[in-house]
Amino acid sequence: MRGLILAGGRGTRLYPLTIGVSKQLLPVYDKPMVYYPLSMLMLAGIREMLVISSPEDLPQFRRLLGDGARWGVRFEYAEQTEPRGLADAFNVGRDFIGGETSCLILGDNIFFGTGLWDHLRRAAQLEEGALIFAYPVRDPRSYGVIEFDEQGRALSIEEKPEKPRSKYAVPGLYFYDRQVCDLVARLKPSPRGELEITDVNRIYLERGQLRVQQLGRGVAWLDAGTHETLLQASTFVQAVEERQGLMIGCPEEVAYRMGFIGRDQLADLARDLRYNSYGEYLLRLLEEPL
Ligand code: TTP
Repeated sequence: MRGLILAGGRGTRLYPLTIGVSKQLLPVYDKPMVYYPLSMLMLAGIREMLVISSPEDLPQFRRLLGDGARWGVRFEYAEQTEPRGLADAFNVGRDFIGGETSCLILGDNIFFGTGLWDHLRRAAQLEEGALIFAYPVRDPRSYGVIEFDEQGRALSIEEKPEKPRSKYAVPGLYFYDRQVCDLVARLKPSPRGELEITDVNRIYLERGQLRVQQLGRGVAWLDAGTHETLLQASTFVQAVEERQGLMIGCPEEVAYRMGFIGRDQLADLARDLRYNSYGEYLLRLLEEPL
């Protein structure tokens, strides 16, 4: 399975923060925002990832992430010249996906919680159809919204409905089979001029090929796209990390625990970061049993 990290967009809700810097490079407590979604892909066992961003911002992503070798993964980069919508990731990423199954994650979505790893590992085995998630939120009007029947089967999916039929929003993490690039290539932009991921998901739903996994209370899903939620995300990560002494979204740790890198490589990474608590954390990992 190939991973796509969509890290473009205008970030207008975060202006003026995002006039000079890409949203997904802004700090969420102790690391750049993009570390969180890319750690999720790594936890799913995905080692080949495409980072998609605007032509102006892509060089900074390259500088931050490099080719991925130090984390035992491979990053490629692709430009999205205009924010043409989330589904456009599959047009931009078509060559990279190369007929494999794929997973798209949005560069500003942060997940944390129990059971996530199992969900991810199972989802990464997907061969047919699509798999998305549903998460209850107080106000789902700014998301894709899924309606379920009494048996928990998905009935409908709507993008940013004024009158949502349920409280279940679709988080920015989507798994697809090999059809997705062809489906997106035929997709028409919505009235707001974007290629909508909700339209892709609706096609799978109508074909009886959409699986929706509900995420419960044990999982936190944060979308760090506004001033308030950006600060909330930082505070949340700080609270959990300080209390538990465990990091959220630390790619070096995930690479080590997933067996993508060994002890010596982790020790090298820790040495480069030793001037602060991030590096000290990595050094501590080396002292504990895996
Ligand atoms: P949004 O939050 O919908 O858009 P945005 O980030 O541009 O923010 P704003 O509404 O404040 O202007 O996008 C969700 C994620 O997808 C975010 O990480 C940006 C990214 N994105 C792209 O990379 N390309 C796109 O064409 C779109 C629409 C979004």
